[in-house]
Amino acid sequence: MKILITSALPYINGVKHLGNLVGSILPADVYARFRRQMGDEVLYICATDEHGTPAELAALEAGQDVADYCREQYEVQRDIYERFAISFDYFGRSSSPDNHEITQHFAQKLDENGFIEEREINQVYSIDDGRFLPDRYVEGTCPNCGYEKARGDQCENCTKLLDPTDLIDPRSAVSGSVNIEIRATRHLFLKQSALIGEVEEWIDRHADWPPLVTSIAKKWIKEGVRDRCITRDLSWGVPVDRPGFEGKVFYVWFDAPIAYISTTKTWGEEDPATRDWKAWWTESEDVSYVQFMAKDNIPFHTISFPATLIGSREPWKKVDRLKGFNWLTYYGGKFSTSSKRGIFTDQALAEEPADYWRYWLIANAPESGDSVFTVDRFAEQCNKDLAHTLGNFVNRTMKFCEKNFGAEVPAGGEWTEAERAMQAELEGLIADYTRHMTAIEFRKALASLRAIWSLGNTYLADAAPWTAIKQDRERAACIIRMGLNLTRLFAVLAWSVIPDSAARMLDAVGEKPADGEVPTWPGQDVEGELTVLEPGRPFTAPPPLFKVLDEDRIAALTERYGGAEG
Ligand code: MF3
Ligand code: ZN
Repeated sequence: MKILITSALPYINGVKHLGNLVGSILPADVYARFRRQMGDEVLYICATDEHGTPAELAALEAGQDVADYCREQYEVQRDIYERFAISFDYFGRSSSPDNHEITQHFAQKLDENGFIEEREINQVYSIDDGRFLPDRYVEGTCPNCGYEKARGDQCENCTKLLDPTDLIDPRSAVSGSVNIEIRATRHLFLKQSALIGEVEEWIDRHADWPPLVTSIAKKWIKEGVRDRCITRDLSWGVPVDRPGFEGKVFYVWFDAPIAYISTTKTWGEEDPATRDWKAWWTESEDVSYVQFMAKDNIPFHTISFPATLIGSREPWKKVDRLKGFNWLTYYGGKFSTSSKRGIFTDQALAEEPADYWRYWLIANAPESGDSVFTVDRFAEQCNKDLAHTLGNFVNRTMKFCEKNFGAEVPAGGEWTEAERAMQAELEGLIADYTRHMTAIEFRKALASLRAIWSLGNTYLADAAPWTAIKQDRERAACIIRMGLNLTRLFAVLAWSVIPDSAARMLDAVGEKPADGEVPTWPGQDVEGELTVLEPGRPFTAPPPLFKVLDEDRIAALTERYGGAEG
């Protein structure tokens, strides 16, 4: 099976926080890894979302040219995701030449098919800046609460939604100039109203979507889907190729999802002989397309983007499964990029290895509701599950073996009732785990993974090789051989979630996958899985896989990130 996976494109304007990571890129990566382990042909595509007002404003604030700013920030984000071990097949940019080309292609097709309309609207024009100002570039006093720095789209102080013309004493946020006026200007509108019937029919054919997704899409439709202005008066973006539209570009939400397609094209063109990019994006039964995103993105992916695809009257692939997330909160409040509240991905990596964050975030993915990040919760769960359960199991098994049998898989002894009972239970748990991963239910999946690790510990504690060794060396050898085989199996099962630690475990038992290879998901034959490592196979006990975050460490993290407001 071919599985196409995309995660919502992160905005270019600065390093993302953990809430952003767990809402799209990280779960998409875990799922991509899992499907590769299952033997599927996976293509995981993502890119930076570089256009629009936020990018322009951020560049302005950084005192940089917007193209330079984006180039730099792209590298910053790319590097961070690499350090998080995100296994993109391609991480591109929405500002790429391919995206310019394909965005313009869609606009042209939509126009040919009668879904584009030119309309005149009134907008704020700044005479001193020589440009039209997007709503959020206009500042002034809020008519509702008197706040003096309200933006033209919304007052930050009282949250009232505004039009720039509502502001008292409006001025340009670019230059501060009050020399502004209202001017008529022409823009392109996508006639979503003419497409919504087909979009809704398409939604209705997906009865299997999660309730969160369907209910958000339906709510939008019920509130009335209006025609949407898809152009803006900006210079940074995809130019509108049409007389009278010089100096205008497409709206960021028009070109960003198209970057899923164009980034696939860029990927394909790197090696056209082996990569047929179009096959991934043509309506067909042998590609299953899965998207990952936070819930605020759902309307764009269930309505606007499908309307673009459908309106082209070309057979583009549309999403089959859509995984939406609620919010990860930071001590019950919002993670916030603008007020720098929360833990950001670069900070996280500077504090602890990627696997700790990957594990905690996936175990606490905000699926059925919001979930809460606190340093205490993070430390407590990493300690309990990673250090005390998984790490200890591996450490005890290998240390005990080295001391009593040397650094190779010991021979001797036969499985007893204890091994058979453990195997039977393990089979059930692996089946649960596989089912939850297939259903993209991460919290349930990780509960199964934890249960699998615990089963190993219980087995080891009950079988007690340290007692057995005193009377029956063969029995102890059998238990330890099982322990080493469980170590290998635990690594295979955890690889999608904690790839670095899993690779270290596999390396220790001489089973590290070669570059580009993935450890194969266990099949039906669990007994076979538990006898892969045969007597005589050497191993190298690694240093402890996970450290315990002790009180001092927790105190230090809390002081730095302790959720204080602001
Ligand atoms: N940049 C947007 C966000 O972070 C997501 C864009 S997703 C895409 O909310 F569909 F536009 F690509
Ligand atoms: Zn206000």
